Amino acid sequence: MKATITWLGHNAWSINTGGHKLLLDPFLNDSPTSPVKAGDVEADFILVSHGHADHVGDTVAIARRTGATVLANFEVGQWLASQGVAHEKIIGMNPGGGVRLPFGHAKFTIAHHSSSMPDGSYGGVPGGFLLALEGSQLYFACDTGLFLEMKQIGAVGLDLAVVPIGDLFTMGPEDSIEAVKLLNPKHVAPCHYNTWPPIAQDPIAWANQVRTLTPAHPVIPHPGESLNLGQG
Ligand code: NI
Ligand code: MN
Repeated sequence: MKATITWLGHNAWSINTGGHKLLLDPFLNDSPTSPVKAGDVEADFILVSHGHADHVGDTVAIARRTGATVLANFEVGQWLASQGVAHEKIIGMNPGGGVRLPFGHAKFTIAHHSSSMPDGSYGGVPGGFLLALEGSQLYFACDTGLFLEMKQIGAVGLDLAVVPIGDLFTMGPEDSIEAVKLLNPKHVAPCHYNTWPPIAQDPIAWANQVRTLTPAHPVIPHPGESLNLGQG
C-alpha cells in the first residue's frame, strides 16, 4: 500500500497517493471530532458522497481556496457550482460511473441512503467510492445500509474497505460484519461512529467481531491518525 490514508473523524478522510492529495467528505469545521480545520488542509481532489451537511461539510470553502477538482453526484455538483465552485472543477457522476484521473480510477458506487443539500434542495442519489490507486484498491462505503452487491464491489480484491458502524443513519455494527463478509477486504476500518451520542459505538468490540467472524484485519485509527496497513 503506497497511499497514506488518514481519518479526519466521521466520514472524512485524506488520502495521499503518488503526490496527489485527495479529501473525502471533508466535514471539518463543524465536526466534533475533526483534528483539523478547513483552512489548514490542502487538496487536489475532493470526493463528496452525498448532499448531507456532515459530508459536503467544508467542500465549498476548500475547493474555492485550493482549486481542487470535486467529484460528486451530478446534482451535488450543480449545487456546488451554485455556491461558487468553478464549473470546470466539478466532475458530476452517477452510480456505476467511473472516471480516470491523475491519481487513478474513481467509481461512484451505489448506496442505500438519502441525499438532500444543506439548504434542503435536491441532492441526487447518494453513493460510495471505489478507488483504484497505484498498487491498491480502496472502497469507501460512505453512508449506506447493507446491500448484497457489496460482493461484486469486493470482487476486484480490496486492500481496504471503510464501512460505517454507527447505526441509526447507516449500517450498525452487526450489518457491517455482514458487509465485511461480502466485501472480503484485506483490511477494514470503521467510520461514521462516535461523532455524536446517537451513533456511539465500541470500536474495540467491533474489531473483535471482525477478527472472529471474518478473514479481514480490522484497523481502528483515532481521528488524525493514518492507517497502518502493514505490508499487506
Ligand atoms: Ni447522510
Ligand atoms: Mn452521514
